[in-house]
Amino acid sequence: MSIIFKDVHKAFGSKKVLRGIDLEVKTGEVLFIIGTSGVGKSVTIKHIIGLLKPDAGEILLDGEPIHNLKERDYFPVRKRCGMVFQSSTLFDSLTVVENVILPLRKHKKLKGTKAEKEAMALLEKVGMTHYAHRYPAALGDGMRKRVAIARTLTMDPEYILFDEPTTGLDPVSARRVDKLIRTMSDQTGATSIVVSHDLESIFSIADRIAMVYQGIIHMVGTPDEFRHSDNAVVQQFINGCSEGEMETPGF
Ligand SMILES: Nc1ncnc2c1ncn2[C@@H]1O[C@H](COP(=O)(O)OP(=O)(O)OP(=O)(O)O)[C@@H](O)[C@H]1O
Ligand SMILES: [Mg+2]
Repeated sequence: MSIIFKDVHKAFGSKKVLRGIDLEVKTGEVLFIIGTSGVGKSVTIKHIIGLLKPDAGEILLDGEPIHNLKERDYFPVRKRCGMVFQSSTLFDSLTVVENVILPLRKHKKLKGTKAEKEAMALLEKVGMTHYAHRYPAALGDGMRKRVAIARTLTMDPEYILFDEPTTGLDPVSARRVDKLIRTMSDQTGATSIVVSHDLESIFSIADRIAMVYQGIIHMVGTPDEFRHSDNAVVQQFINGCSEGEMETPGF
């Protein structure tokens, strides 16, 4: 099982964002996609669930091309690849547990207490049972993120795509979310793709890191390989230096 990007290109108007992305995501790993703001990280992962289509190149899910499906054929792909979006997408008019029950009813056809039991079990996984009957507006960002993760888990996804799961969270909530991503991946065997520029997350939970720069995967490797890389652009990014070789559009 794997997700493979082969020479994927994507432009918006005259702006070439992806210029030949080659990447293999391996089963069970926690792969981080890193890079500066606006480099194309979110654009890259949106291709997996068909929110964007490449101008050229291929994307394979377990060997099957998924880059040119019809809209309705993306439904099974989205069931297998759950996405936790950058900003919270919970329903404010529903309680936490109702937010999790909804997809269980809709997609898994679970009813009544069965749906509620499963929802509570998922909330337990993300440490949110105490808040099950609160409304999202009464929770902090980190808690809302954990509920969003529980909701994604309702579909038993094989792949979970996280777009900046810790951005905007306080350090304690951020580390809790990191821990959750890691244990979930270890316990369920789900493959996680995490878009992030949170260096602490990257170096504490990534199995591998892929760095996007100038439209391609500039480097892919383990955290240790990144730490010891003598590539100037990689070092500049992981040390957070404003001065260096890296070209930042807009500056
Ligand atoms: N639907 C779209 N239409 C036009 N341009 C887009 C669209 N989506 C993304 N872009 C552009 O593509 C570039 C890459 O965007 P993307 O959202 O992937 O950046 P990112 O690496 O995720 O950055 P950040 O870390 O700030 O989230 C940006 O210049 C953005 O403006
Ligand atoms: Mg983004």
